[in-house]
Amino acid sequence: MADLSVNYMGLKLENPVIAGASSFSKSLDGIKRLAENGAAAVVVKSLFEEELREKMIYSDDFHPEAYGYAIADASVMYGTSNYLKLIEQAKTAVDIPVIASVNCLGGKWWTDFATEVEQAGADALELNIAYLPFEKSEKSPEIERKYTKIVSEVKKEIKIPVAAKISQYFTNIPGIVAAIEKAGADAVVMFNRYYRLGIDINKHEFKTVDFFSTESETYNVLRWVGITSSQVSLDISATTGIHSAEVAIQHFLSGAKTIQVASAMYTKGEKVLKEINRGIEQYLDKHKYNSLDDIRSLMVKDIENRKKFERIQYMRVAGGYGVNI
Ligand SMILES: Cc1cc2nc3c(=O)[nH]c(=O)nc-3n(C[C@H](O)[C@H](O)[C@H](O)COP(=O)(O)O)c2cc1C
Repeated sequence: MADLSVNYMGLKLENPVIAGASSFSKSLDGIKRLAENGAAAVVVKSLFEEELREKMIYSDDFHPEAYGYAIADASVMYGTSNYLKLIEQAKTAVDIPVIASVNCLGGKWWTDFATEVEQAGADALELNIAYLPFEKSEKSPEIERKYTKIVSEVKKEIKIPVAAKISQYFTNIPGIVAAIEKAGADAVVMFNRYYRLGIDINKHEFKTVDFFSTESETYNVLRWVGITSSQVSLDISATTGIHSAEVAIQHFLSGAKTIQVASAMYTKGEKVLKEINRGIEQYLDKHKYNSLDDIRSLMVKDIENRKKFERIQYMRVAGGYGVNI
């Protein structure tokens, strides 16, 4: 039987299938179920700084000094929070790595929180850096600097491995990943998938659309994993649209170390993690590969092959589909 184990940013994982941050990992029972269903590691649902701030602002006993105090000494504020308790409990309840995740707006919260989760026993920290510019005055290099600053400041404070989870909305994806690596990140998670908004054209109201991903969304990720993996040395964890072993294997062939699954757990149940693992194992056995190392980056080792990921126009291939261009 092929060896599915993988070293992901220094964590020794039994297989490459990680349960991504989602509501499945927001409780101890949920985390236990993920471990029982074959997750190699679990990313705990992110703690959102926004939530903490809102709780403070709108709680009954809120007054401005209390808010100021909390901001000044955030660790006091959430030192005993449920999130940290969850990390501590998860660490004793499951024997897979527990990766904490935080989404901060800025300031010292990132580093304060990083220190807290490390002390609570987290095996690694995933920085869910979700900064999207909505003002035309914002400059791309400044936005990119926000990402690298967060990574380098957090890395200065903690010893556990740090991954940066980013979106696919960058001017130069291999460029930002290389900058994140230079800032000290041990891994990059490509990519987060944001909430999508549509409009009810009769009621003139906003509505949630495509709450869960579909498998076809993975191919844009695959392209960037393939293009980026040979230009950096940090580990890549691929996420978005991974619902089956077939798609997971494509990511390994393109250079990903691990994959993270969220939507497929909602549509098929946590058992999908086991199914994906079984599919990967069957594939390796069928093709007589001994381990995942044997297939990683296979499709991007050859420069000519790698260049195929760079094709963005339909020229030539269209003929095969009976389309005249
Ligand atoms: C209901 C739901 C909740 C999520 N919560 C988080 C979160 O707290 N932190 C985070 O970094 N990503 C979160 N994600 C994003 C997933 O971890 C994942 O990166 C993204 O959905 C793409 O993977 P998928 O196609 O398998 O869903 C959430 C996704 C879903 C569907």
